[in-house]
Amino acid sequence: MEKIRVAIIGASGYTGGDLLRLFYYHRGVEVVSVTSRRFKGRGISDVFPYLKSIYPDLRFKSITEIRDDADFYFLSLPHGVSMLHARKFLEYGRVIDLGADFRLKSREGYEKWYGEHQDPQLIEEAVYGLPELYREKIKEARLVANPGCYPTSVILGAYPLVKENLVEGAVIVDSKSGVTGAGRSPSESLHFPEVNENFYPYKINGHRHKAEMDEHLGTDVIFTPHLLPVDRGILSSIYMKMKEKLNNSNLKEVYEKYYGGEKFVRVIGNSSPAIKNVRGTNFVDIGWAVDGDIVKIFVAIDNLVKGASGQAIQNFNIMAGFVENRGLKNLPLFP
Ligand SMILES: NC(=O)c1ccc[n+]([C@@H]2O[C@H](COP(=O)([O-])OP(=O)(O)OC[C@H]3O[C@@H](n4cnc5c(N)ncnc54)[C@H](OP(=O)(O)O)[C@@H]3O)[C@@H](O)[C@H]2O)c1
Repeated sequence: MEKIRVAIIGASGYTGGDLLRLFYYHRGVEVVSVTSRRFKGRGISDVFPYLKSIYPDLRFKSITEIRDDADFYFLSLPHGVSMLHARKFLEYGRVIDLGADFRLKSREGYEKWYGEHQDPQLIEEAVYGLPELYREKIKEARLVANPGCYPTSVILGAYPLVKENLVEGAVIVDSKSGVTGAGRSPSESLHFPEVNENFYPYKINGHRHKAEMDEHLGTDVIFTPHLLPVDRGILSSIYMKMKEKLNNSNLKEVYEKYYGGEKFVRVIGNSSPAIKNVRGTNFVDIGWAVDGDIVKIFVAIDNLVKGASGQAIQNFNIMAGFVENRGLKNLPLFP
């Protein structure tokens, strides 16, 4: 079978690197172009030594050199940059944006959290790429907005109970993320001595990802992110008030109803998920506990895989007609 050609725009960062790592296992794909401003002209292993010899012929180009020689364009760019290029790439093929530019359904919603939108018409066309909820729409989409990393964990964790109307009031969430969640560009607050052996909440007066969670859960989410001194992984603890008390078997029934047939969601019941159990994989581990009239849902994902590049490939597989876990069957590295 002929391979599907993909271009990765913004391929020198963490999500671009994980797309390249995961596409190696896919075999139905040929990566034809990669871009970077800083590494233009350089080879892949100059930027990602762990990919030595995997893509010997690929050289980083600038965005303006990218032509219509790909079927799919993955945008691993910062928000505010994807919106400047998405329209052009849609003339060439289908687009999966890993950033936030097309995730929120309204221009006002976007501009409240991110600033002015340069291509609001495309917001209407974009499909939110959370396959477990929107698989049918994703199949036909030209433009997929890959969800944020925190929202992936929180929406998947809370959705069955919210949707079944089994909880009431605000959804309260504490999430902890590894440092790669902030991307590869250096900054003082992400410097090793600042992060190592440290742990704290950030954006305590409001984080942009709340809007995405509110939109897809249809309820108010009270969300506090924390910076965890690990490379990758998100653990979200979600607290919801039950309308009527649920026990373990009620919860199992609800979560199996939504995720029983899913390839990546592992419902682990009344036990603790852990970031090491999903590291490097597209798995979503969901556990729970009941505490009085509160149900506590715990979700672990890898922010760069199910939270970004793995989910983008899952969306790509759906759009291109591959089996959904193609290229995504790897197991976690443990310990
Ligand atoms: N990291 C995560 O866990 C995660 C999870 C979910 C979603 N996301 C989203 O995915 C996107 C990429 O994240 P990341 O973590 O991979 O970021 P990153 O490590 O900072 O990489 C960003 C990439 O974009 C390129 N770039 C930056 N500014 C550019 C510009 N003005 N014009 C052209 N290229 C530019 C960079 O290349 P050069 O600097 O070499 O040109 C680099 O290749 C972001 O929107 C992020 O919010 C990230």
